[in-house]
Amino acid sequence: MNANTRNIVLIGMPASGKTSIGREIANKMNWDFYDSDEEIKKERGVTPGEIISTEGEEAFRKIEKEMYKKLLIIPNSVISLGGGSVHHCELLKECNSVICYIKRPFLHIYNSLKDEDNRPLCKTMEDVRRLYMTRKHLYKELSHFSVFNNTDIEKCADEIIRMARPHLQFRIAIIDGPNLNMLGIREPEIYGGETLEDRRKLTEEYAGSKGIAVTEFQSNYEGAIVSRIQNAHFKCDGIVINPAALTHYSYAVLDALKAVSVPAVEVHISDIDTREEFRKISVTAPACKKQIVGKGFEGYVEAIQYLIDNYME
Ligand code: DQA
Repeated sequence: MNANTRNIVLIGMPASGKTSIGREIANKMNWDFYDSDEEIKKERGVTPGEIISTEGEEAFRKIEKEMYKKLLIIPNSVISLGGGSVHHCELLKECNSVICYIKRPFLHIYNSLKDEDNRPLCKTMEDVRRLYMTRKHLYKELSHFSVFNNTDIEKCADEIIRMARPHLQFRIAIIDGPNLNMLGIREPEIYGGETLEDRRKLTEEYAGSKGIAVTEFQSNYEGAIVSRIQNAHFKCDGIVINPAALTHYSYAVLDALKAVSVPAVEVHISDIDTREEFRKISVTAPACKKQIVGKGFEGYVEAIQYLIDNYME
């Protein structure tokens, strides 16, 4: 799983409307729709209820977990999970999906379930109430947000899409190394008179206009830069890095860039290839997809656009 996994997962009690709302969301977003119970039935030829009745709940949860592992990594999809998703908390906490809890009042759930056969865990009102009481706080805990199913499927779908959008944004980490906090003061004949704040304004505005979220980080410490790169793993879709002087000697930065599965672009404000000999060598560039030099702050903008064009469609 990586940050590029873009999908919406619906959790909640059985009969809370996950499947019909999920189909509607998928339809509106032009994404694929999966229902974990349906997928299990397709794979095994029997329903989850039948598996629980014949092989027991524990055996079913194992099958369910394997199915979740397959579904949660499908990008551009809406996935409705069975009511028992709370049995797979670890998996859901680790995944990169946007998780929405669909709430529905207990009595509506009970009324929808009471006439259904093949629900071995929801035979009586007491069964349903017990599940509802034990699960509802877990659904809440596991989700990024919750939506109330007021039976208007279309409105619910719209609400979920609206709430999911900020979570679905692509994210770029912009990382600046030693002395770049001194821009504006530091050798203006080489780096220009603008400050790091000016640069951040430019990159934030540009990324924002493209619907991309950026996080900015600058440090004078090699270890902090290494940690920030590591931190981007699974959390960011791209890195724009100006390692500054670390470019020329930091194998730790090189290794960190290699360690994470995030495409990186190396940027230098000045043209390092036409300066002192030691600046012509970049030990970090081999871990990057591209190097942009000598274009001032515009180099960062170009780097963002390169990541968008190549890794964020
Ligand atoms: C720099 C070039 C490096 O050689 C230098 O050490 C820096 C800035 C640049 O952006 O041009 O600090 O990375």
